[in-house]
Amino acid sequence: MPTVVVASPKGGAGKSTTAILLGTELAHAGIDVTMLDCDPNKSLTLWASRGTLPGRMEVLSDITESNIVKTIKAKDGDGQVVIVDLEGIASRLVSRAISQADLVITPMRATTLDATIGSRAIDLVAEEEEALDRTIRHAVVFTMTKAILSKQHKGIAASLREQGIDLIDPPLMERAAFSALFAFGGDLHDMPPQGNMDRARENAGAFAQQVFKRLTEEE
Ligand SMILES: Nc1ncnc2c1ncn2[C@@H]1O[C@H](COP(=O)(O)OP(=O)(O)OP(=O)(O)O)[C@@H](O)[C@H]1O
Ligand SMILES: [Mg+2]
Repeated sequence: MPTVVVASPKGGAGKSTTAILLGTELAHAGIDVTMLDCDPNKSLTLWASRGTLPGRMEVLSDITESNIVKTIKAKDGDGQVVIVDLEGIASRLVSRAISQADLVITPMRATTLDATIGSRAIDLVAEEEEALDRTIRHAVVFTMTKAILSKQHKGIAASLREQGIDLIDPPLMERAAFSALFAFGGDLHDMPPQGNMDRARENAGAFAQQVFKRLTEEE
């Protein structure tokens, strides 16, 4: 059972949206998914309470630093994917989640400030790797990406690649359907139309496939 941890100390970077898009698209593709809401602000729990969850998904709330490792281990071996959504800070809960991860995804808006703060997530992963003496796979996904890429976006992407950071392609575009997830709950397949739904589904589906590929292939 692979565990995907969505982590960035940057508030509003798109962590919960990324976690929901990944979870709902994997469930849509026939995979059992457990989502762990580790954020005291409870974005995932609120989303789950608004609409119908995909059939293959459960959302667990009230995950704390005391029960996160136990909860992840309990789901181990069930053949499901566990997705962990975290608060936008660095904390013991965040470190514990990262310690259990098969893949850490850091969503990042392609601005200098977001990239600077987001890169601290990379440092946190490196610290856990050092403490545990194992490598932890890590990837960045750009979020809220505009159709026309700015110079800044291209510069930040190039700099991350130069540092050997794995950038997930496609990025998550800025889409009305993605921000509407919190209004309607559920997924992109049962939502009342918001903007271009086909493009939104295609983008989220391709992103989820790229993540799944990283979970199933050897590094
Ligand atoms: N790809 C996107 N397209 C459009 N809106 C988006 C996208 N990603 C995120 N948003 C919006 O940006 C805001 C912040 O996103 P989100 O809550 O996912 O970030 P977060 O990193 O989980 O924040 P926090 O640090 O508070 O937990 C939300 O209003 C969300 O709807
Ligand atoms: Mg969040």
